[in-house]
Amino acid sequence: TSMSLQTSSDNSFIKKLKASGRSLVVFYGSQTGTAEEFAGRLAKEGVRYHLKGMVADPEECDMEELVNLKSIPNSLAVFCLATYGEGDPTDNAMEFYEWLQNGDADLSGLNYAVFGLGNKTYEHYNQVAIYVDKRLEELGATRVFDMGLGDDDANIEDDFITWKDKFWPAVCEHYGIESTGEDVTMRQYRLQEFKDETPDKLYTGEMARLHSLKNQRPPFDAKNPFLSKIRINRELHKGTERSCMHIEFDIEGSKMRYDSGDHLAVYPINDKELVDKIGKFTDSDLDTIFTLINTDEESSKKHPFPCPTTYRTALTHYLDITMNPRTHVLKELSEYCGDAAEKEKMKLMASTSPEGKALYQQWIIADNRNIVHVLEDMPSCKPPLDHLCELLPRLQPRYYSISSSPKLYPNTVHITAVVVEYTTPTGRHNKGVATTWLAAKKPTPDEEPPTAPIFIRKSQFRLPTKSQTPIIMVGPGTGLAPFRGFIQERSHGKEEGKVVGETVLYFGCRKRCEDFIYEEELVEYEKNGLLTLHLAFSRDQAHKVYVQHLLEKNAEELWRIIGENNGHLYICGDAKSMAPDVRNVVMKIIQDKGQMNEQQASAYLKKMETQKRYSADVWS
Ligand code: FAD
Ligand code: 2AM
Repeated sequence: TSMSLQTSSDNSFIKKLKASGRSLVVFYGSQTGTAEEFAGRLAKEGVRYHLKGMVADPEECDMEELVNLKSIPNSLAVFCLATYGEGDPTDNAMEFYEWLQNGDADLSGLNYAVFGLGNKTYEHYNQVAIYVDKRLEELGATRVFDMGLGDDDANIEDDFITWKDKFWPAVCEHYGIESTGEDVTMRQYRLQEFKDETPDKLYTGEMARLHSLKNQRPPFDAKNPFLSKIRINRELHKGTERSCMHIEFDIEGSKMRYDSGDHLAVYPINDKELVDKIGKFTDSDLDTIFTLINTDEESSKKHPFPCPTTYRTALTHYLDITMNPRTHVLKELSEYCGDAAEKEKMKLMASTSPEGKALYQQWIIADNRNIVHVLEDMPSCKPPLDHLCELLPRLQPRYYSISSSPKLYPNTVHITAVVVEYTTPTGRHNKGVATTWLAAKKPTPDEEPPTAPIFIRKSQFRLPTKSQTPIIMVGPGTGLAPFRGFIQERSHGKEEGKVVGETVLYFGCRKRCEDFIYEEELVEYEKNGLLTLHLAFSRDQAHKVYVQHLLEKNAEELWRIIGENNGHLYICGDAKSMAPDVRNVVMKIIQDKGQMNEQQASAYLKKMETQKRYSADVWS
């Protein structure tokens, strides 16, 4: 296939580079902002090495221009690319990825380096970066430095700064340049505060268009979320220890459609108490209206978040204040420590020395401090609030596997979410941003229903097209969510007179009497003969019983369905230990029952994946 990417002069990154005397372009493939943030840090640091840099979104660039980047002396293209889901590129890198796969551009003379962002708990660790790094070389480009891979399951910040520390010297050597040695703590954005006058625009939490949450206009998506009414929010756990919510979002009149297996995205807001603390620790008036304006006029990103707005709105709606802060944030904040010891400690944590890394690992990661905790425990650190707002990453929407079928519920979307709450090693009580916020949104008969900004993200997690195809679903805990939708859909089909194939569910939880969510519904489906239910209660007896133990016991059934009857196998829930454990057991069964060796079984499973007969919807 021949592919042609967008070509308008606005998309010419070479023109932009030339116009502003730059030679470094850092592309990012980002879904949650981390790759974009890393790209920004690299572009900014280039100045130190006489490589003035620019960040670029491949979706907004004519990537075919890579062929001509060599026309700029000492030019370098860096790619910070995240891998998602089943080894997929992020949405904004998709077109570029396909162009690389399908095209045969001559990239000789192009200098490049790749840093990948992935998560080792997933099957296809950093697959996108690995492919791009290899493919660019195949097309004739010159790798200036070995690819770096970041693991978000461990400490991706450490991986990145470790790589960066070796990357820059390699770049200097390649181009024969010397570092200016200057530390770059220059600001990317310039502050404008509105002291007396009020601007005619004032953002109060919209994602893009002013007043978009008041004047709702379809189509609704990530930039234009739908303000949905919460119709039902009820507890699914019978125990008192943990809470699992069943929430129904009204989508009537929104023109939004969904399929079983899709995800619902929710834009939460931060806890007021944390926001107030930031105001207090920085001695700031949170109601001040301000704008941050990009000093880089070539950048397509004029503001880091919708501006003008108040500090309170920025900290409540737009910025992440609960993640562990990254090292560059600590480094820039160290400048504002009045106390020498605190300043040193902050600087050390931001450094790449072994002691510095160990301290960051202990004081930030293991002790689980967020920015509020850092400011609290470094009382002499008084950054200007606008600088802090520039440094903090964007608050991200949270995704939930939709637990209903549109066949039964065309006007509501259901989710099933466990409330996150835990105590940190420093004795602080941390609460999950989205789940804590949602937990308080309980509709009552006499009041207007609570609302939440949402959008729907399509997924690849789908029932087989034919209802007769047998399926096995493995979903312990909240992993049950999408399967509730699948089961509703198959039950609906059966009522309509369709032939519905075997429908097998493996569900697991701690105790039957506590966290067996949707018990009544599932038992009813089983009674009606639609569902075969295999239950693993891990804490109802002395030894652990998990879903994969039952799979092992029922190896015959699994092989009959997937090996002999072309059935589909689905896994949903915990990515870290459950999904790999289940996959291993499935591998073993394929070997035993299918009489294959390990290699053959692995190829068999891979083929099932490409045929969409094996799918995972997992998160960590
Ligand atoms: P956050 O404020 O984001 O806090 C969560 C973070 O806190 C964790 O990442 C971890 O770093 C830390 N943390 C949590 N517990 C502890 C602990 N005990 N000790 C130390 N640190 C801890 N969730 C569901 O409940 N149901 C679903 O159906 C569902 N589907 C998903 C589908 C996809 C595709 C994805 C990506 C995620 C899904 N999630 C689901 C997870 C969900 O998106 C959120 O991550 C989750 O609800 C927590 O969000 P939060 O804002 O409340 O917590
Ligand atoms: P546990 O908490 O008693 O260890 C839903 O969270 C269920 O998944 C719980 O019963 C939990 O058991 C179980 N679980 C924990 N680790 C698992 C794993 N590696 N594989 C399958 N199930 C697991």
